Amino acid sequence: MTEADTIRCGDVTVRDLAKSFALNGQPLNVLRDLQFRVEAGEALAIVGPSGCGKSTLLRILAVLEAPDSGSVLIDGDPVQGVGTERAIIFQELRLLPWLTVLGNVAFGLQVRGVSRSEAEQRAHHHIRLVGLEEFEKAYPRQLSGGMAQRVGIARALIVQPGNLLLDQPLGALDAMRRLTMREELARIWREEQVTMILVTHDLEEAIFPADRVLVLPKGRGSKRRLIEITLPQPKDRSSVKFVALRRQLMAQLGLH
Ligand SMILES: Nc1ncnc2c1ncn2[C@@H]1O[C@H](COP(=O)(O)OP(=O)(O)OP(=O)(O)O)[C@@H](O)[C@H]1O
Ligand SMILES: [Mg+2]
Repeated sequence: MTEADTIRCGDVTVRDLAKSFALNGQPLNVLRDLQFRVEAGEALAIVGPSGCGKSTLLRILAVLEAPDSGSVLIDGDPVQGVGTERAIIFQELRLLPWLTVLGNVAFGLQVRGVSRSEAEQRAHHHIRLVGLEEFEKAYPRQLSGGMAQRVGIARALIVQPGNLLLDQPLGALDAMRRLTMREELARIWREEQVTMILVTHDLEEAIFPADRVLVLPKGRGSKRRLIEITLPQPKDRSSVKFVALRRQLMAQLGLH
């Protein structure tokens, strides 16, 4: 059994989180008084307009950025350092240009001490999962944006993280691939027992895997809301309830 096999998903608690940046010498308040809790194994989707602080929040959860105040707890303990228990799929993908698809996916295991041959053996499975088996030997520069994004998903999943943080993971995929990957992500989440926090602009992509959706409006005035997604599995995007939820989220975001 490897280290990765023993990792359990954890619950995430965010308390009184605040973060601001300086813009033209003025403070730009991005997140304020933010609190929520994600139970172990739950999927939370975060939606909101561009610039409302979604990536900033994920970076704080991944301990890549420090909040001005407030705390993030995993299983009740403050998060410290970039832990092996969390994997993040970034909005801008960072594949290693000198490694092939196979090498990039296997890399995450190798840095955790898994031998190259075992890491590559396990990488085949995750590469198949994202439909890139014919491109295992290709380098990142030989891939389309959507293909590179799928490599990023395989690379994050292979370490079997307890918490999976996804920042618009399907943004560069074509419509067909998006539909299948959306369901694939929901399936992976159920099977891999991972606590998932997913940032997206796509409301269907949010409703598909999520138990709850956090709506983060931009600026003051509009309220943040946590919306429960109580739809029978498997979720049917043309069902009356699904369409009604989508409309409710659009209204929350001021889109009609
Ligand atoms: N390092 C930084 N320095 C200064 N300002 C920053 C920094 N990072 C983010 N910001 C600002 O914080 C705000 C929120 O940025 P963030 O990247 O979190 O938005 P987002 O919700 O992820 O948007 P998008 O949907 O476009 O990805 C933006 O106004 C951005 O300009
Ligand atoms: Mg972002």
